[in-house]
Amino acid sequence: MRTHFCGLIDESLIGQSVTLCGWADAARNMGQIVFIDLRDHEGIVQVVAEPAEAAGNAAMLAAAAAVGYEDCLRITGSVRRRQAVNDKLRTGRVEVVAETIELLNKAEPLPFHHHEHPGEDVRLKYRYLDLRHPEMQRKLRTRTRLVSALRHYLDARGFQDIETPILTKATPEGARDFLVPARMHPGEFYALPQSPQLFKQILMIAGFDRYYQIARCFRDEALRADRQLEFTQLDMEFAWVSERDVQDLTEDMIRHVFREVAGVALEAPFPRMTYAEAMRRYGSDKPDLRIDLELVDVADLVKDCGFAVFTAAASDPDGRVAALRIPGGAALSRKQIDEYAAHAAKFGAKGLAYAKIDEAGAVTSPIAKFFAEEAFAALLRHVGAGNGDIVFFGAGAYAKVSDFMGALRLKAGKDFDRVQDGWKPLWVTDFPMFEWDEEAQRYVALHHPFTAPAVDSIEDLRANARTAVSRGYDMVLNGNEIGGGSIRIHRPQMQAAVFELLGIGAQEQRAKFGFLLDALKYGAPPHGGIAFGIDRIAALMAGTESIRDVIAFPKTTTAQCLMTGAPSPIDDAQLAEVHVQVRPQA
Ligand code: AMO
Ligand code: AMP
Repeated sequence: MRTHFCGLIDESLIGQSVTLCGWADAARNMGQIVFIDLRDHEGIVQVVAEPAEAAGNAAMLAAAAAVGYEDCLRITGSVRRRQAVNDKLRTGRVEVVAETIELLNKAEPLPFHHHEHPGEDVRLKYRYLDLRHPEMQRKLRTRTRLVSALRHYLDARGFQDIETPILTKATPEGARDFLVPARMHPGEFYALPQSPQLFKQILMIAGFDRYYQIARCFRDEALRADRQLEFTQLDMEFAWVSERDVQDLTEDMIRHVFREVAGVALEAPFPRMTYAEAMRRYGSDKPDLRIDLELVDVADLVKDCGFAVFTAAASDPDGRVAALRIPGGAALSRKQIDEYAAHAAKFGAKGLAYAKIDEAGAVTSPIAKFFAEEAFAALLRHVGAGNGDIVFFGAGAYAKVSDFMGALRLKAGKDFDRVQDGWKPLWVTDFPMFEWDEEAQRYVALHHPFTAPAVDSIEDLRANARTAVSRGYDMVLNGNEIGGGSIRIHRPQMQAAVFELLGIGAQEQRAKFGFLLDALKYGAPPHGGIAFGIDRIAALMAGTESIRDVIAFPKTTTAQCLMTGAPSPIDDAQLAEVHVQVRPQA
């Protein structure tokens, strides 16, 4: 239908005849002359319909005059140098003088034009219009280039791309499963994979040595800016490896794709930090190292004060009293301090103590009364607080305090403009093997139940389960967990022992993971791997906060597709076919 793309018309084509197809991005009817901005996926070029050309061609001028927003047009004309150069357009030095204008499809009045900035709900309902916006085209193209660069890298290194099933058995990664009723097996269900975890391990047992897959994963969990119900992983597994083999290759791969796709040079090697250090200094297992603020432990300096909340936490082995100093923070008003406290409360804080030191050195603090003057001064000195600063204090259970103080650190970093430009990758290592789930009164796996413990002996693991460290690792970039993996358990006895510690008894092990335990029996090599969040990496590369911007058809935070209307009710006949009866809402 066309000879050239609109966005690629340039001075080399001056004097030539071209045929273009595209949307009318805008049309300006000046009476005698009509200008049409014709847009395709490559960009925009200006088309001019003028009477001189229209001699004997009144139809062309009439067509031009009738053009409306987003009409589909096919235009033939000749390229000439433009009088008034438009530096904002790649094609801004030329224009196309129309000879024929064919209306391929008239667009009705639009719900919005992409030059406007409607709310996300409207954008998602009419996603096809939203995606026409050059900015959205750019973001999705970044994603395409990312996936292509990853494939090139891995194909050149002998990785085999192997598909694994979507209709499968539950693969626990800590979320709820999506279930699919099995029509041919009344009362039974497939689960959609939360990740290809067990299949990729079995591929290693099956002798493939190095596997990757651009894999769709499904997790029924709360949606956020960096979480979707279905998302895409670059999933990888390696046989005969230790953690450094996996980390060194994938770190090189990430550096490679950032260079290729985003023109960004990430440092080499990535810094490494243990989980314990990350929690202690940053209150997060995915610290944003662009922010220079750090938490300081002050239990020793408050253990004898008169504030029971602090002394209780300071004397509890699982407790924490931490301080966050914000230079210049004394400028915060009472109301702004309350906002910080409300933010901390969202992450479980029961209160948020502070000390404000004004420019003259006068201290205001609701907890000063619990300290001798010199002891309070020593506390402030210890955290490095000076005139003009504010210090926030958090006390309570170690994990909770780390969590809310870490959240405050991020907020303060943004509010006080302390987020440096650039890229801060790191590896976080030495994760705990288990987390104690208060509600369920049992251990849950911090990574997943197939992650190897750092100790080889089952007796050691059983004896020290609470403090056991795993062979898991995460890759973090600018405060985002972009990848996570581990060395796996490759001996069936250890796998069974870990299942047991997780409260999965022998019978349940057989029913849920019998195939894995069997496979581990017949010569399973040591193996390990990692999975990267493609959506998250693409969002970082495209410079957007939300992964929804790099997913063509994402779900809203209420788990709906506003364009198609999914999810939607199913009629009784179809439900009966799959042997499903809907229970009334409790
Ligand atoms: P994990 O659960 O850490 O590990 O997931 C790996 C990476 O996938 C991304 N990710 C998500 N992205 C968008 N929406 C979500 N809901 C979502 N959940 C996770 C993150 C994360 O780092 N099988 C293991 C990997 C392994 O052990 O090899 C796994 O799935 O970027
Ligand atoms: P109160 O004497 O209970 O009013 O508390 C004194 C100060 O300590 C207030 O500013 C509270 O917000 C703060 N506070 C209370 N609980 C905690 C906690 N767990 N961690 C940090 N500060 C707290």
